Amino acid sequence: MSVIGCGYLGAVHAASMAQLGHDVVGIDVDPVKIASLAKGEAPFYEPGLAELLTSLQSSGRLRFTTDIAEAKGATAHFIAVGTPQKKGEYSADLTFVDAAVTALVPHLSAGDVVVGKSTVPVGTAERLSEIVTAGAPGAYLAWNPEFLREGFAVADTLTPDRIVYGVGPGEAGERATAVLGEVYATALAAETPLIVTDYATAELVKVAANAFLATKISFINAMAEIAEVTGADVTQLADAIGHDARIGRRFLNAGVGFGGGCLPKDLRAFAARAEELGKGESVAFLKEVDAINLRRRQRVVDLVVEALDAEPFGKRVAVLGLAFKPDSDDVRDSPALDVAVQLTGRGADVIATDPQAIGTAGRLHPQLRFEADTLTALTGADVVVVVTEWREYRELDPVVVGELVASKVIIDGRNCLDAEAWRAAGFTYIGMGRP
Ligand code: UDX
Repeated sequence: MSVIGCGYLGAVHAASMAQLGHDVVGIDVDPVKIASLAKGEAPFYEPGLAELLTSLQSSGRLRFTTDIAEAKGATAHFIAVGTPQKKGEYSADLTFVDAAVTALVPHLSAGDVVVGKSTVPVGTAERLSEIVTAGAPGAYLAWNPEFLREGFAVADTLTPDRIVYGVGPGEAGERATAVLGEVYATALAAETPLIVTDYATAELVKVAANAFLATKISFINAMAEIAEVTGADVTQLADAIGHDARIGRRFLNAGVGFGGGCLPKDLRAFAARAEELGKGESVAFLKEVDAINLRRRQRVVDLVVEALDAEPFGKRVAVLGLAFKPDSDDVRDSPALDVAVQLTGRGADVIATDPQAIGTAGRLHPQLRFEADTLTALTGADVVVVVTEWREYRELDPVVVGELVASKVIIDGRNCLDAEAWRAAGFTYIGMGRP
């Protein structure tokens, strides 16, 4: 198989498929990324990926190239390029998907299946399928959305919780289903639920899943806003409603909100696509979901400023976390990075730290001051703010931190700390929607 696009999704997919025994070529236009992958090195931090790449080095089943012509000879061709938010608009930018498919078509043979994995606006697969069949008679297109979570990407790819194929009618669908059946033979043998459907449903499954997750997080963050004015505790509230199996406790962690390369831009692109389809009102609530989410970043900034008696200028703020979530170096639309940037903009003397994301954050915001060592970052802080719940931060000893900081004030932007332990060590502890 070929995997076109070797970012978070494609690199993990390529390596995982090789691990399952397939013969894989990973293709990307970025020579730096390809050079690193070809050496068996992960170009970004994802637990387990580097080990997988190293162990596959001698297998002969995984190679990487910048030459799209090397896709020739593969039967399944995965499209795993990015679909970022367009600049200044809510809709998705399909430039990379279109370019990948157009570049691939001349190298396809009859019987090949192009498998879209990228998250796209509903209607894209239908359009691309026409390009594939017109340019390569006998080749077909399928849409096979990806649900992997960063931080668990390898495990999610090797053992997915469900598999969805969106296929065309008749022979196109039969051929695509047969090829994907071989690709996912291991997972299917383990009775992973499989849904074979049409293109539109497959495309919508992905955006609907992400929109639902985002809504769940914003719902609990809205409850946090109410808790803040009533003295209620949103964490206990989440525990209590989460015991209802119909609701479930997962994705009910209130805090600085969601970020990353998927949730924020996917829900905006979904709202934009619904408007194009004349059904903007059906998902109008997603704008509210987005607004609640962005308010939580502002709330953390406001809490820091309040803790500094409204005079942040020149005050030392230790920002713990830059990645959009733990176990990732991804800072795309990261609430943590946003908080560090906003506080710097307010004149605070911000020192930001993260176990993995200083490099990625520094490329985007070289004006920020970074410190790799957590304890050094904490030294002399007037306020500490935790915005990514890395284990290292959850396990900090409040007594040790208390000896380093200038003032014992901690803002827990992820509700991930033991409030009592921090208070017992003399800290003013401020959570998100928790008394
Ligand atoms: C998401 C989807 O989960 C995944 O299925 C899809 O394939 C890609 O998008 P990912 O972007 O890796 O995955 O992150 P996810 O684990 O969903 O977290 C997204 C954001 O929500 C993070 O910023 C996280 O900190 C935040 N979050 C998550 C909360 O604020 N509260 C929660 O309870 C859960």
